[in-house]
Amino acid sequence: MAKPFALSEPALQAVAASTPAETGAVDWRDGLPVLKGRRVTLRELRVDDAQSLLAMLTSDEITRFISPPPTTVEGFERFIAWTLRERSAGRYLCFAVVPDSLDVPAGLFQVREMDPGFGVAEWGFALASAFWGSGAFLEAAELVLDFTFNQVGAQRIEARAATQNGRGNGALRKLGAVQEGVLRRSFLRRGALLDQNLWAILADEWRVRTADPPFVH
Ligand SMILES: CC(C)(COP(=O)(O)OP(=O)(O)OC[C@H]1O[C@@H](n2cnc3c(N)ncnc32)[C@H](O)[C@@H]1OP(=O)(O)O)[C@@H](O)C(=O)NCCC(=O)NCCS
Repeated sequence: MAKPFALSEPALQAVAASTPAETGAVDWRDGLPVLKGRRVTLRELRVDDAQSLLAMLTSDEITRFISPPPTTVEGFERFIAWTLRERSAGRYLCFAVVPDSLDVPAGLFQVREMDPGFGVAEWGFALASAFWGSGAFLEAAELVLDFTFNQVGAQRIEARAATQNGRGNGALRKLGAVQEGVLRRSFLRRGALLDQNLWAILADEWRVRTADPPFVH
């Protein structure tokens, strides 16, 4: 996905995260729920996640095909504060991925609306390389897709992945995303314009796929 970190004009206000369980809220705009998988927990970002995100998500192998993340703790703090504001506005959401072996996030899933009302969304994700191939991605991705289709109400979720990004494209393919085309020279990274694959998953297709017993891992 080209732009996990390039969606924002960072805000300065740090906001303490809260969950619907804590607040009694049911609308995701008031606070993201905690989504529990077998190996990972997804939850809203907290400003004190900044140090962990800096350590986990800034290595070259992670960032080479995505928009560059912040390079400082303060930059991540501003990014986190921005994610909370955008979620409150109903335009965007960002889940932290906390593996069961850790108590800090090792990855992020971002989802933004492509049209007012979130009928069409775009998502992006990054995971610390220590967890690549562990199954954490697939589990977290399924939780995010279920949430975005069933709670947010998206009908289509798009992703863009640089054509050279083998893991990114492989990850989308195995989720059942359909490659709909190539966006030629659509992503500027390190001075080069890269081609990107456009992938999409439709709500109906996802529901059929996840209702099908063979989709077990
Ligand atoms: C994208 C990301 C979150 C996926 O997590 P992951 O744990 O690596 O994903 P998985 O291992 O579950 O799935 C990747 C699939 O791609 C396959 N793959 C790896 N390299 C590949 C290549 N060069 N060509 C094709 N497929 C490849 C893997 O074999 C795997 O498929 P399998 O499980 O059927 O074997 C992670 O790699 C990441 O954070 N990458 C850096 C950030 C990034 O590029 N994000 C944007 C993605 S568009």
